[in-house]
Amino acid sequence: MPLVLYTCLFWLSTSGLWTVQAMDPSAVVSARSPHRGLAPTNVDFAFDLFQHLVAWAPNKNIFISPVSISMTLAMLSLGSGSRTRSQLLQGLGFNLTAISEAEIHQGFQYLHHLLGELERSLEMIMGNALFLDHNLELLESFSADIKHYYESEALATDFQDWERASREINEYVRNKTKGKIVDVSSDLDSLATLILVNYMFLKGTWAYPFDPENTKEKSFYVNETSKVKVPMMSQSRVMLYLHDSVVPCQVVQLNYVGNGTVFFILPDKGHMDTVIAALSRDTIQRWSTTLTLRNQVDLYIPKVSISGTYDLKSVLVDMGISDLFSNQANFSGITQKAPPSISQVIHKAMLQLDERGMAPTAPTKNALPLTSEPVTLRFDRPFLILIFDHFTWSTLFLGKVVNPA
Ligand SMILES: *[C@@H]1O[C@H](CO)[C@@H](O)[C@H](O)[C@H]1NC(C)=O
Ligand SMILES: *[C@@H]1O[C@H](CO)[C@@H](O)[C@H](O)[C@H]1NC(C)=O
Ligand SMILES: *[C@@H]1O[C@H](CO)[C@@H](O)[C@H](O)[C@H]1NC(C)=O
Ligand SMILES: *[C@@H]1O[C@H](CO)[C@@H](O)[C@H](O)[C@H]1NC(C)=O
Ligand SMILES: *[C@@H]1O[C@H](CO)[C@@H](O)[C@H](O)[C@H]1NC(C)=O
Repeated sequence: MPLVLYTCLFWLSTSGLWTVQAMDPSAVVSARSPHRGLAPTNVDFAFDLFQHLVAWAPNKNIFISPVSISMTLAMLSLGSGSRTRSQLLQGLGFNLTAISEAEIHQGFQYLHHLLGELERSLEMIMGNALFLDHNLELLESFSADIKHYYESEALATDFQDWERASREINEYVRNKTKGKIVDVSSDLDSLATLILVNYMFLKGTWAYPFDPENTKEKSFYVNETSKVKVPMMSQSRVMLYLHDSVVPCQVVQLNYVGNGTVFFILPDKGHMDTVIAALSRDTIQRWSTTLTLRNQVDLYIPKVSISGTYDLKSVLVDMGISDLFSNQANFSGITQKAPPSISQVIHKAMLQLDERGMAPTAPTKNALPLTSEPVTLRFDRPFLILIFDHFTWSTLFLGKVVNPA
């Protein structure tokens, strides 16, 4: 019980800072909490990107790591010139009169460092790499910069031998993710001469585990006519819960060990689109202050591994980041030779939800005075999942789960 309260208090104290920051996204707050310097911009970008992706693939699972995409595109801007560069940074939401490019890259460098610490408490692997046709002669300065700020690397690849190049890229990602992410090659464009690959894997450890004994095969209702079987985990205890009166949904907040916070969002039937449209910094802020401890929530969550692979071209072009994919692309900071003819940005994100947690037993159900009726919450129809690092306020994952099977 003390842990629950502690978590809750910690949450409230951090959400206060968040409020301040939401009102003043720039100077004052970044001095006060540099670890959240880029958070408002990145969180806005996260929801914007997600909403665009959902519009592109309305009935599909969508699963991305927004902070990782922000970082990757900012990194690419280091090697871009003129309009390609400003489009990338402005497309990410940065106001270049309010924040300098140096501040942006330093901000990401610090964020990368902090997320590296998070990687040790969660099972999390995040990174990116740029593959460039070897005829294009990579500039040393670019390699040095991306290593310095983003701990990333650029690799010269022989794209003439496509079979081999795609195998190399695959191997690279498999190697970096310790075998967790094994196949990106099917999404690669064989005409590309510059490929930016971004990957993220996460498997958190719950502050309170689910008991594997309680995991049972159940139906998940994909839509009115179709259902699939999934292993459904469950636990009953004190939880932060909200039946929202503004946005038609129920929300429950679970915590990972460390700084990871997970919101499971169950839209009321038929209201998925309304809830997605309402996702914003303000909504999250409101939820974080209105979620309240319920004496007993009977929670059911599918035990699944969810992943998504995206060629981000269409959606980024939609968001105004287009030069990079056209013959207007200026990559003068990456190579001095003729710019790459076709560039591609691939993102792959994967999340494993399972029972694993830290506390050996769930805390007793009646630790709080009985103030409310028990609630049963079954994530057995399409839902949303939002994972934050509440120290840096980074959106680690954002997903729409339509069909978990
Ligand atoms: C590309 O960007 C660089 C640096 O901003 C600039 O000097 C150069 O003129 C640009 N090239 C073209 C073709 O616009
Ligand atoms: C960008 O920042 C400047 C300086 O802080 C401000 O005056 C301007 O309104 C901002 N532009 C946008 C589009 O927010
Ligand atoms: C995979 O990683 C190992 C150890 O880090 C390294 O020796 C090996 O060269 C890597 N293989 C590839 C294909 O990158
Ligand atoms: C329901 O989902 C199934 C499986 O994904 C799909 O084949 C079917 O077209 C969907 N039906 C409706 C009415 O959306
Ligand atoms: C949250 O992250 C910060 C920065 O990495 C770290 O100092 C702190 O110990 C973390 N808190 C927990 C509860 O892990």
